[in-house]
Amino acid sequence: MSNETEKENAAAAALDYVEDGMTIGLGTGSTAKYFVEFLAEEVADRLVVRGVPTSEETRKLAASLNIPLVDVDQVERIHLTVDGADEVDPQAQLIKGGGAALLREKIIANASDLMIVIADSGKQVENLGKFPLPVEVTPFAYTITAKKVYDALVEAGVKKPLISVRTANDQRPIVTDGGNYILDCKCGLIPDAPLAASLLAGVPGVVDHGLFTTLCRIAIFGTDTGATILEY
Ligand code: A5P
Repeated sequence: MSNETEKENAAAAALDYVEDGMTIGLGTGSTAKYFVEFLAEEVADRLVVRGVPTSEETRKLAASLNIPLVDVDQVERIHLTVDGADEVDPQAQLIKGGGAALLREKIIANASDLMIVIADSGKQVENLGKFPLPVEVTPFAYTITAKKVYDALVEAGVKKPLISVRTANDQRPIVTDGGNYILDCKCGLIPDAPLAASLLAGVPGVVDHGLFTTLCRIAIFGTDTGATILEY
């Protein structure tokens, strides 16, 4: 069974939620890419939708496939967002941000009537935390912020988090679409995601974090032949 087949099947199943006339948040990452490609096929086949990309990467992809796009500040309503995730727990809490797009992803998911997560089966976990939690921080004083992020995670019950700034091949910090850095926080286990989310949100210098604790309503996990749909 291949991850790619599962991602593709999850993305295909999400198309069932798309209706003519919708404004759709377009997620970021390898699974969301399949969704954008499938959506483009429907658009070529006369589906009328508008896309709101969650990253520059997705904006370029969607534009290259002729999906009509709308500026996020010109949108009155986003009917649906379809996006990937790095981890999904049984309460539909997520870790996102492996692709460094968590800030726009969260703003757009939060502004949507419905967020659907599409993922391969490997993203389904009992507890969040094995995937390093991305935390977007201002470049200014990021080392100080990293220490405060450590304290916040410890206060939230994480044992000995290991925090590093995400770097590119040239060893420089990668810069997000919003001009910020990403701290990758190896937690092992995040015992109380809502508590961690609220403590992290209170750290000056933290722009946002990859814990999405309340936004996902439907998760679609691809299988080798189709998809399993969980509604929360
Ligand atoms: C982008 O910042 C992320 O939130 C992605 O949605 C997440 O990392 C899942 O990506 P894949 O679909 O590539 O695994």
